[in-house]
Amino acid sequence: MRPLRRIPGDLALLVGCLSLLLLPLLSRAADMPLGSTLSPGNSASWSSPNNTFSLSFAPSPTSPSLSVAAIAYAGGVPVWSAGGGAAVDSGGSLRLSSSGDLQLVNGSGAVVWSSNTGGQGVSAAAVTESGSLVLKNATATLWQSFDHPTNTVVMSQNFTSGMNLTSGDYAFSIDRGTGNLTLKWTSGTTTVTYFNKGYNTSFTGNKTLSSPTLTMQTNGIVSLTDGTLASPVVVAYSSNYGESGDMLRFVRLDADGNFRAYSAARGSSAPTEQWSAVADQCQVFGYCGNMGVCGYNGTAPVCGCPSLNFQPNDPSDPHGGCKRTVDLQSCPGNSTMLQLDNTQFLTYTPEITTEQFFVGITACRLNCLSGGSCVASTALSDGSGLCFLKVSNFVSAYQSAALPSTSFVKVCSPAQPNPPPGDASAASGSSRGGAGGVRAWVVALVVLGAVSGLVLCEWALWWFFCRHSPKYGPASAQYALLEYASGAPVQFSYRELHRSTKGFKEKLGAGGFGAVYRGVLANRTVVAVKQLEGIEQGEKQFRMEVATISSTHHLNLVRLIGFCSEGRHRLLVYEFMKNGSLDAFLFGDAPGGKMPWPTRFAVAVGTARGITYLHEECRDCIVHCDIKPENILLDEHFNAKVSDFGLAKLVNPKDHRHRTLTSVRGTRGYLAPEWLANLPITAKSDVYSYGMVLLETVSGRRNFDVSEETGRKKFSVWAYEEYEKGNLAGVVDAKLLPAEDLDMAQVERALQVCFWCIQEQPAQRPSMGKVVQMLEGVTDLERPPPPKSSDSFLSTTTASGSGVTTATSMVSSTAPPPAAPTTSPSLDQEIALGRSESARNRDLVSRQLLSPQPYTTM
Ligand SMILES: *[C@@H]1O[C@H](CO)[C@@H](O)[C@H](O)[C@H]1NC(C)=O
Ligand SMILES: *[C@@H]1O[C@H](CO)[C@@H](O)[C@H](O)[C@H]1NC(C)=O
Ligand SMILES: *[C@@H]1O[C@H](CO)[C@@H](O)[C@H](O)[C@H]1NC(C)=O
Ligand SMILES: *[C@@H]1O[C@H](CO)[C@@H](O)[C@H](O)[C@H]1NC(C)=O
Ligand SMILES: *[C@@H]1O[C@H](CO)[C@@H](O)[C@H](O)[C@H]1NC(C)=O
Ligand SMILES: *[C@@H]1O[C@H](CO)[C@@H](O)[C@H](O)[C@H]1NC(C)=O
Ligand SMILES: *[C@@H]1O[C@H](CO)[C@@H](O)[C@H](O)[C@H]1NC(C)=O
Ligand SMILES: *[C@@H]1O[C@H](CO)[C@@H](O)[C@H](O)[C@H]1NC(C)=O
Repeated sequence: MRPLRRIPGDLALLVGCLSLLLLPLLSRAADMPLGSTLSPGNSASWSSPNNTFSLSFAPSPTSPSLSVAAIAYAGGVPVWSAGGGAAVDSGGSLRLSSSGDLQLVNGSGAVVWSSNTGGQGVSAAAVTESGSLVLKNATATLWQSFDHPTNTVVMSQNFTSGMNLTSGDYAFSIDRGTGNLTLKWTSGTTTVTYFNKGYNTSFTGNKTLSSPTLTMQTNGIVSLTDGTLASPVVVAYSSNYGESGDMLRFVRLDADGNFRAYSAARGSSAPTEQWSAVADQCQVFGYCGNMGVCGYNGTAPVCGCPSLNFQPNDPSDPHGGCKRTVDLQSCPGNSTMLQLDNTQFLTYTPEITTEQFFVGITACRLNCLSGGSCVASTALSDGSGLCFLKVSNFVSAYQSAALPSTSFVKVCSPAQPNPPPGDASAASGSSRGGAGGVRAWVVALVVLGAVSGLVLCEWALWWFFCRHSPKYGPASAQYALLEYASGAPVQFSYRELHRSTKGFKEKLGAGGFGAVYRGVLANRTVVAVKQLEGIEQGEKQFRMEVATISSTHHLNLVRLIGFCSEGRHRLLVYEFMKNGSLDAFLFGDAPGGKMPWPTRFAVAVGTARGITYLHEECRDCIVHCDIKPENILLDEHFNAKVSDFGLAKLVNPKDHRHRTLTSVRGTRGYLAPEWLANLPITAKSDVYSYGMVLLETVSGRRNFDVSEETGRKKFSVWAYEEYEKGNLAGVVDAKLLPAEDLDMAQVERALQVCFWCIQEQPAQRPSMGKVVQMLEGVTDLERPPPPKSSDSFLSTTTASGSGVTTATSMVSSTAPPPAAPTTSPSLDQEIALGRSESARNRDLVSRQLLSPQPYTTM
């Protein structure tokens, strides 16, 4: 444009500087001067230099007759809107006033929104190539839309603590101190935090962040940065992360209350979801509105009303909630509780309007019925006995066959439950495998019979034409990956597992519950597939147990990826452990051979931590019942992972009354004495088994081995005698000797813990949490008494006086074996609860029913 090359070199620099100063004037095409105006009527827009983003009016998504001033990516994906999406009529405008204030004005002339930059020296507005609307003077940016996000954060935009994304009643923010991502629902004065998650506990635990910033990186990784962190922390991977190309990536708080990551190709108006914070949409508070029930139809969340006592507020808006057909006020003294199985009224702390206490289902129902302000209640049947009373005026419900809870809603008599799903007039969200399953099956069979020929035909066609299509493989792989990443158990078909294990060819081992095979999923994940045997449980029960197992996550527990339940086939799909099981390393036949002491000790501590989690820390307490080296798996870094937990409940749950040695699934040698004496099985039974495993980890010999060397005594008995004599070296695995990394103090501690664990009296054994502390040296250790007391409790039952724990109070009843089936505590319950909570809850229920005070909080 300018004849620069004619200017002598000396002056070139000067002129260059001058032209830099003049740049805003020269690139006028992108800069809008004071007085510029946009209006819904004309199709004008303010665009970025390369037209990547442009600001213009577009029809409002909620009311198409009104318009919203929004910045959109090439193709039309909106990323920001003036005034948080405020809609104006056709006479409205967006104008940069002469004072430098950017204003959104409605047709009436009312200023709906303003940037509040009047009088600050703003000389122009521009949309940048990264998608920000900036107001600037000749040298500096004075205001930018990136600092005032609406519901979207794009690449190169910084979203810091103190900012909010909003969408309807929902808001997203980052907690300043911890960097936790939080999602909140607010209506009136009530705020419910339904999502609050830290992504790296190693710093959320012990570090206070100064100004955490969320960024969508161009490679699709959502990360958190902070001045106090050396490197960004990964919050989420988009499922297409790493893919490059001309595309926009962004995170957005959607109108449905979920926070998601998306990508959109240039020119496309429909972004593709790549990740979502709340994996289970029904967990979003208020998703179906007040009194709305969220459930799943296949994989799609659907909303419905609790019963025919309700009707939708707005039949055209499924998320609008429901209202009673007859108000509670118009039927005083004649209300009843409508029962909703497998339903939960969402309860998130801190929801102060919720009352919570430990009672049974019946008391939970009655307490709400008699409580004047109570509108609904939820009883958890996960072993906790918790009852939540909803006295708030907003109730958000979730119904799913996998939910271990029963809920009640107060309605005017009579209660009119929804017709079962499958009925065309059903107003409720259908749930998978519900009560209408049988009827649905009959219909399905008839239909199947009629169309099976057609289906076969189509299948054959597909087989011939599509099976080699490159589209099929990756698509299903991506699907599996998405489900896998969401943390929910994936349901596999039997055919799929048959294929991924190549017809159950490569057997990894055979445990007490069935054989295990190696498999490779469509997404190339290597897995271990367990074919369960002897499952007599129904589909529903099985799914509930699977839900419990797969919700149990811990570094030292093998993770359940998915399951298959088809006809008589029951399979579980676990993550694959590269280094196999501990027994191979202890008893000789592992390919790597010897395992050094520090690794052994770490495995012992890891195992104890995993079991502690099962016993004490997870929501549904689980007694493992079969702890042995074969069930302790090792990943590629030799982290110990306990496997097969939660399965004892799955197999022959009714069989425990006739508990004989043959029906006991545990393994001899590791079974606590109470198994053989027909006494209640508690968490302490696992402690015993763990003690035996610990002894074997130290010694490299089976605890029940008998040899000349051990004086024809069981190894565990002999080991205690040698320990008493101070001959530790005789007990330690010869493969470890002599070694400089053998810490004898640690060995002695491990042996002491082991002898405490294998005490014959359950009450004498420490809890698993205590075991971890003892191993780590946090707790001092006393010298253990001989494991087998001279007066064995198999013959005398009056042992242990004071300090009676729950376990012993049941153990030290008179004349235990053989206990009559009717009077002995049901093993089902003992296993389910891991302690005598069921009995306690039964007491509470009867007490609650007799109590004149309905709200007795325990
Ligand atoms: C605009 O596009 C041109 C050609 O593709 C490119 O060289 C230039 O860097 C782009 N400008 C910006 C600001 O991205
Ligand atoms: C603008 O005016 C229209 C009526 O002309 C109204 O429907 C709309 O709600 C107004 N917008 C705002 C943000 O007040
Ligand atoms: C632009 O604004 C900045 C910040 O307010 C100020 O320091 C600077 O002097 C202004 N430049 C001009 C040319 O007005
Ligand atoms: C985002 O933060 C980084 C690091 O603090 C900074 O370099 C960058 O300029 C910021 N981006 C915007 C658009 O403010
Ligand atoms: C942050 O999230 C973790 C779970 O990821 C939670 O345990 C913790 O309480 C949260 N912290 C705060 C301050 O909310
Ligand atoms: C968690 O944060 C710590 C400290 O910043 C870091 O060392 C570690 O690598 C992070 N872990 C992950 C999984 O990002
Ligand atoms: C469930 O999905 C099926 C098929 O997609 C549909 O026909 C049916 O109407 C849906 N049911 C509900 C309650 O939305
Ligand atoms: C309660 O409602 C039922 C069913 O509508 C009705 O039959 C009964 O008479 C009512 N009782 C009272 C006391 O109103």
